Amino acid sequence: MKGIILAGGAGTRLHPLTKITSKQLLPIYDKPMIYYPLETLMDGGIKDILIISDPINIGNFVRLLGSGKDFGIKITYEVQDKPEGLAQAFLIGENFIAKDNVTMILGDNLFVGDGNFLDDAIKSFKEGGRVFAKQVPDPERFGVVKFDKDMKAIKIVEKPKEHLSDYAVTGLYIYDNTIIEKTKNLKPSDRGELEITDINNLYLKEGKLDVRLYEHYWLDTGTFEALLEASNKIASLRNE
Ligand code: DAU
Repeated sequence: MKGIILAGGAGTRLHPLTKITSKQLLPIYDKPMIYYPLETLMDGGIKDILIISDPINIGNFVRLLGSGKDFGIKITYEVQDKPEGLAQAFLIGENFIAKDNVTMILGDNLFVGDGNFLDDAIKSFKEGGRVFAKQVPDPERFGVVKFDKDMKAIKIVEKPKEHLSDYAVTGLYIYDNTIIEKTKNLKPSDRGELEITDINNLYLKEGKLDVRLYEHYWLDTGTFEALLEASNKIASLRNE
């Protein structure tokens, strides 16, 4: 299993904090944000990790994390010239993924509270895709899962206008190697991006998307409030 951390994007929602630096380098309590998704992948047993960021910030990630030797892993780096969608990571990372399966995590997503969940999910993974849904008060900010009456996922809608459910798809995705072919055939959405939600719906149509409920603490640090909440949460856990 290879790992990708996607840590680019414009970060305009957090200006001026992100005017001269990357969102994924902002502090969350005592560490730069990217340490948390990195730790999540490492807890999942992944030792070969690709970090993708924009041309301006990529050098700072190299300065911060280097070859990965200090963490006992191997880190490589690639540039995403423009933020053209989450799924573009699989095209940029095609040679890195090679013939393996891949787990991608968004560099601004924090999964806290159970170090074993990803390890379990990866060990039992065979084929298709596996994503993690979390009940949230503001699902319209995310990709949202629509379930049937037996809680079987029917479809995923990116930032739906109508209420489908309270379950957001978190920014952690496990895929088999067909991800590369799937992404190559994907058309950009109306907003000009290769959408991860379109990929998930492709797996769903094949009957090969496992949507798991994530029971622990998860946060997308996309707003000022979420950034503050994340720091407070980590601080309280550290000082317990
Ligand atoms: O956090 C989970 C959500 O992440 C999912 O529920 C959504 O389905 C998924 O589309 C995504 O939604 P966001 O609105 O959070 O996506 P955003 O465009 O903000 O990008 C997420 C992170 O990825 C952000 O830190 C910037 C980075 N990014 C984004 C794009 C589009 C890149 O590095 N490159 C990109 O091309």
